Amino acid sequence: MKVPIARTSLTDSEIQSVLGPLKSGWLVQGPKVREFEDKWSEFSSAQESIAVTSCTSALHLSLAALGFGPGDEAIVPSFTWISTANVVEHLGGKVVFCDIDLDTFNIDVAQIESKITERTKAILPVHLFGLSADMDPIAEIAKKHDLWVVEDAACGFGAKFKGRHVGCFGDTGCFSFHPRKAITTGEGGMVTTNDAELAARIRRLRDHGAAMTDLQRHLGARPYLLADHPDAGYNQRMTDLQGALGSAQMDRAKEIVQERQRLARRYDQAFTGLKYLRVPVANQDYEHGYQSYPCLFEPEGTSLSCVKAINEKRNNWMDELQHNGISTRPATHAVHMLSFYSEKYKLKPEDFPNAYLANHCSISMPIFHGMKKDEQDLVIEKVLEYHP
Ligand SMILES: Cc1ncc(COP(=O)(O)O)c(C=O)c1O
Repeated sequence: MKVPIARTSLTDSEIQSVLGPLKSGWLVQGPKVREFEDKWSEFSSAQESIAVTSCTSALHLSLAALGFGPGDEAIVPSFTWISTANVVEHLGGKVVFCDIDLDTFNIDVAQIESKITERTKAILPVHLFGLSADMDPIAEIAKKHDLWVVEDAACGFGAKFKGRHVGCFGDTGCFSFHPRKAITTGEGGMVTTNDAELAARIRRLRDHGAAMTDLQRHLGARPYLLADHPDAGYNQRMTDLQGALGSAQMDRAKEIVQERQRLARRYDQAFTGLKYLRVPVANQDYEHGYQSYPCLFEPEGTSLSCVKAINEKRNNWMDELQHNGISTRPATHAVHMLSFYSEKYKLKPEDFPNAYLANHCSISMPIFHGMKKDEQDLVIEKVLEYHP
């Protein structure tokens, strides 16, 4: 048996949903994208949802619409997917990394204020792997220093902080529909916001800066007259094929989250107390969405002096698990260690020690809705068999 790190799980009716736009002939952003956006707003309690081509586009459009530009600084956790930082670069800004809290893998809120300068314009907290960042202090710091908050909620489907779905705390929230995420449209993303004016600007920027969408024009009284373009926008529109697929999956959104949480609880029960593996944290304030199941390998020994030895041991264990049919991954990468950022900003791995440790010592176990009991049994059996 082979257990992948993730597997796309679509029902027959979800697959069939894509035929609607193919048959109607309306393939570009249209009624199905709108339907997906409405369902997303209802699920997340966001006032506005704007579907786009990826979470990277969502982050980029958010910052662009807020007015982030050349010379501006944004605070980004040093352990995240590279695109959280890249969008700052794309707009001519400066990335200011902040280390993470190794217990949660999320930004260390105690270090944020020390990173603020007179050029700081935004904080980009990441709700990594489905666990919300600590949003109360982030909101306080942002208010005190008049900063924008753009939440990277790429993995945040189903993640809540004090009962509220992520994506609704900052100026915007940005979600991903890449196939490793719980809801997938192949590639795709969503911006959420409670600011109607900002939403209108993001909608325009996603669609070449047009004052009205193609659908509005086609349904209007004079569809033959082209729209004005008040902005020099981008093309970051989601297609209706993707909108249909996303919308169909939203009909079982709660079920998907619950299934992932149930799988995670089974791992928790099996792995809690193991000396060589620390399971993801969970407590009353945080409802984990479990986009993945990130653990820390040999948590008691994690320190800069031992990091290379632990990394080698972890990699050997990953080889062994792979040999037994089980795919694992490092939870994600430390962006300050990737050559573009380390060279441009002259950064050393130890500059952000917790991100460095997480990069070298984390291990994510397979989790996906649709995971069968014997697949999870095999993962549990092989993890418990390990002799450090
Ligand atoms: C934390 C984080 N941010 C951003 C992204 C980028 O998402 P997308 O591939 O939809 O652009 C990802 C993707 O995995 C991610 O994990």
